[in-house]
Amino acid sequence: MKWQAEAPTNIALIKYMGKKDATSNIPLNASLSYTLDNLRSFVELEQTINSADSWEPLQDPRATFIPELNTIEQQRFLRHLALLKKQFNYTGNFIVRSANNFPAGCGLASSAASFAALTLCAVQALTALSHAEPMDRTAMAELSRQGSGSSCRSFFSPWVLWRDAKVAKVNLPYQDLLHHVAVVSHQKKLVNSSEAHRRVQTSALFNGRVERAEQRLIELSHSLAHQEWRAAYLTVWQEFWDMHALFQTAKQPFGYLQPASLTVLDYLSEYWENNGDGPLITLDAGPNVHMLFRADQAAMANEIKNTLAKNFEVI
Ligand code: PMV
Repeated sequence: MKWQAEAPTNIALIKYMGKKDATSNIPLNASLSYTLDNLRSFVELEQTINSADSWEPLQDPRATFIPELNTIEQQRFLRHLALLKKQFNYTGNFIVRSANNFPAGCGLASSAASFAALTLCAVQALTALSHAEPMDRTAMAELSRQGSGSSCRSFFSPWVLWRDAKVAKVNLPYQDLLHHVAVVSHQKKLVNSSEAHRRVQTSALFNGRVERAEQRLIELSHSLAHQEWRAAYLTVWQEFWDMHALFQTAKQPFGYLQPASLTVLDYLSEYWENNGDGPLITLDAGPNVHMLFRADQAAMANEIKNTLAKNFEVI
């Protein structure tokens, strides 16, 4: 028997950085994200008589990027499957296949999409195999969070708030934002996000971080609700710089920004200054620059995309 599922990734505008509880991924502060419905992971599970679960790339015409999961990443993915099997007291094994329609491992939050898709697929398979009651999305999001924190936000769309163990859709305007990302590098990160969550807490600037994130969440929710786009842009801009400053000032400093990231950021902030308007701009734990445009900014999004595409890959 085979089961299939897919899930989108999401981009946080107020970031999840730092954990209260590392085993079950309870965040130190609440985060607010926008679900990127076009950037998706696809997962297939096939029952096997093999003595253990295993992973292999999924061949699927929709999945244009085959992830090259190293041993540690495969183990992490399979550990999450083991946790899901345990929930259902299931002792059989699966071959897990996965792929994305976007490049993995470069700050495009591919783990959010792939862990959400794995959770959806495994719950579907395990519910059928163990004749269990159907599980609702909130319960699935909670399970998914234990594999990858940010994946719990991929169960809802478009605006999602995650605080402690609770994740839910929030009603805000701008339901059809356009997303582009300037991919300045495909290189895998040297410091993964679990390590980043640990190291930021050693920075002297971590003092007050939770309060700053919570304050920005209030400001951003207000700006979005009142359609004050420029105020939203300024809050989101401060928030990603705050996170990257924590990376750079950890006791064992690290960073993801590349010279090309700064070139893109300079161009975009100048664009805002010259035009009095522009996209929301953010970076995850990676060098690539994410842009969110309002639906009425479609022409602007095209102009900016074409300008950036002269020097960078823009998705
Ligand atoms: O879900 P994790 O543990 O990969 O953490 C992701 C953290 C950031 O992407 C940097 C921020 C966020 O809120 O998604």
